[in-house]
Amino acid sequence: MGAKPDTIPSAGAEPASAQALEVLRLGKTFRNGRTEVPALRDITLHVAAGEFVSVLGPSGCGKSTLFQIIGGLLHPDAGSVRMDGEEVTGKRGRIAYMPQQPALFPWRTMLDNVLLAREIAGGVDAAAREEAAGWLTKAGLGGYERSYPHMLSGGMQQRTAFVRALLSPQELMLLDEPFSALDALTRSDMQRWLLEMWEETRRSVLFITHSIEEALLLSSRIYIFSNRPGTVLHEIEVPFPRPRPANLADDPEFIRLRRRISDWMTEEQQRP
Ligand SMILES: Nc1ncnc2c1ncn2[C@@H]1O[C@H](COP(=O)(O)OP(=O)(O)OP(=O)(O)O)[C@@H](O)[C@H]1O
Ligand SMILES: [Mg+2]
Repeated sequence: MGAKPDTIPSAGAEPASAQALEVLRLGKTFRNGRTEVPALRDITLHVAAGEFVSVLGPSGCGKSTLFQIIGGLLHPDAGSVRMDGEEVTGKRGRIAYMPQQPALFPWRTMLDNVLLAREIAGGVDAAAREEAAGWLTKAGLGGYERSYPHMLSGGMQQRTAFVRALLSPQELMLLDEPFSALDALTRSDMQRWLLEMWEETRRSVLFITHSIEEALLLSSRIYIFSNRPGTVLHEIEVPFPRPRPANLADDPEFIRLRRRISDWMTEEQQRP
C-alpha cells in the first residue's frame, strides 16, 4: 500500500485558514418591481478565530442584511462568505445567532430554551443539561431554570438568549444589537457580563451595534460602515489589553478614540 495522502496537518501546524469568517466583496440590492434599494456594496471583512469584532454603522446601512447573508437566509448579488476557509455562501446552520429581541419560546422553560440549539443539532443528554445549568448559574440565572420567559426581566431574557447562543454547536456567534432594548444601567451591566463570559470562552464573535462606546469596550477591531449602501469606511484596531478594566471608559486613549469615531460618523451623516 502506498503512503496515505498527507491530509491531516501535523501537530502545531497552522490550519489552512485561521479566519472564523471571511466576507469577500459582498454586494446586495433589494429589488421590488422597478424599485431598487442598494443595501450593501463591496463589503470585505473578517473575524479571526477567537476574535471579537464589531460592525458599527448608522441605521439602515445594511447591518442586519449582512447578518442575514452570513447566516445563509439571504443570497448576495456579488461576493462570497467563507468560514474556516470553506465557501459557505447561502448555507444555513453555520452560526450561533443572538437577535435583537431575545426570541425565547414562551412555552419552554429557561433551561429548555437554552437547550434548543443542542436539540436541533441532534439531542440532549444529561451532560448537556448539566453544562447548560452550569452556564445559567454563571450567568446569574441559577434557580430560574424552570421559570418561563414571562417570569424574567428583560436583562435576564437577554442573558438566557446569550447562553442559548453560547451552547449552540456552531463556533461563530453573530450578535445583532443584543442590548439595544435595555435601559442604560442594565445595558452597562450586560456589557460587563458579556465581556466576562467572552473572556472565559473566547468564541469568535461578530457584534452589531450603534453605540461607539459599546464597540470600544467590547471589541478587538471595529468596522465602521457608511450610510446605505453600506461600505466599510474605516477599520480600527482597539488597543486596550484584556481583561479590560471596569473604568476603561475613563482612559484618555478611550476618550480620544471615541471622539475620533464620533467625528467620522457625524461627517458621514452630513454627507449629501
Ligand atoms: N427584504 C427587504 N426588501 C427590501 N428592502 C429591504 C429588505 N430588507 C432590508 N431592506 C432595506 O435595506 C436597507 C438596509 O436594511 P437593514 O435592516 O440591513 O439595515 P440595518 O443597518 O440593520 O438598520 P438598523 O440599524 O436600523 O437595524 C434598508 O433601507 C431597508 O429598508
Ligand atoms: Mg438592523
